[in-house]
Amino acid sequence: VGLGAHVTLLDSLDPRYGGNRFNLQGIEDRVRTVVGDVRVTHVLAPLVHDAEIVFHLAAQVSYSDSLAIPVEDYEVTAGSTLQILECCRAMTAKPLVVLASSRMVVGKVGPGPLTEEAPTNPLSLYGVHKLASEKYLSIYQHFFDMPTLALRITNPYGPRQQIHHSKYSLVGWFVRQAMEGRTIKVFGEGTQRRDYIFADDIGEAFLRCAAAPEAVGQVVNLGSGVATEFREMVTAVVEVVGTGRVEFVPWPENYERLETGDVTADTSRLHGLTGWQPGVDLRTGVARTAEYYRHHGEHYIR
Ligand SMILES: NC(=O)c1ccc[n+]([C@@H]2O[C@H](COP(=O)([O-])OP(=O)(O)OC[C@H]3O[C@@H](n4cnc5c(N)ncnc54)[C@H](O)[C@@H]3O)[C@@H](O)[C@H]2O)c1
Repeated sequence: VGLGAHVTLLDSLDPRYGGNRFNLQGIEDRVRTVVGDVRVTHVLAPLVHDAEIVFHLAAQVSYSDSLAIPVEDYEVTAGSTLQILECCRAMTAKPLVVLASSRMVVGKVGPGPLTEEAPTNPLSLYGVHKLASEKYLSIYQHFFDMPTLALRITNPYGPRQQIHHSKYSLVGWFVRQAMEGRTIKVFGEGTQRRDYIFADDIGEAFLRCAAAPEAVGQVVNLGSGVATEFREMVTAVVEVVGTGRVEFVPWPENYERLETGDVTADTSRLHGLTGWQPGVDLRTGVARTAEYYRHHGEHYIR
């Protein structure tokens, strides 16, 4: 919106996820908003009709829930990608389709920074369906000459994320717990390393990639490139917020089976294509997130 684009938003506002009208505060008059389901062709088709770029972020986002609602996960996360590609294929001037993919396509991660060439053996149906989405993009690129691009996001967080449950985007959930003076439970010793990436840095990367002709056809990692132990992140949240405490508890059985091992993204491809680099470190990002919810938290608690 800030760049002067005509933006249309399609979101189902399904209460299980993070869609929230309050997120549009200040720009509500400058975007076209449609509340609808991305899986419904007659809703989707007219919206992509005159688009130059389609950012596809709708998904069933919880990897643990993907095992509880597999068919829905397939439809919302993978089927929607195919729907979007089909709608775009019908157009004379094909828009660029940019997919929000996930590091979960990789599964168990080997030692060292995670590159885009890492073998993909997802541990959840969510990961399988994101991987299917990436493959749909590459098929449409190859056979129909459609411009596509997938960004594999690591662990995102920041202002405006959902904080009403702990199924994904845990940094925000922990910020809420700390602000409410609660005890944050960490499974095991919390030594698993993660790559936390701030929302503004993600937005910047999406925009830069969409404007970089060389990025078309690529799968690109999107993370901070910084390895942070889980317990370090939780400690940072408690310290920055100034309330709450940490408790270490045993792993629940199912979570350990989904554990991917240490993840740090190699972001050299993203940097090489766009010059992008992360601008916000974890403590600063947590402070900005906490500040946001201090002012606007009531709009995010269900
Ligand atoms: N949160 C993470 O840990 C993470 C990590 C990597 C990638 N991603 C991906 O980033 C994207 C954005 O996720 P987020 O973290 O901002 O979560 P989010 O819940 O804020 O965003 C997902 C959005 O999809 C919408 N949605 C769900 N089903 C829909 C449907 N059938 N039709 C239309 N809209 C629908 C939801 O209402 C919500 O606004 C997703 O594709 C997600 O898979 C998230």
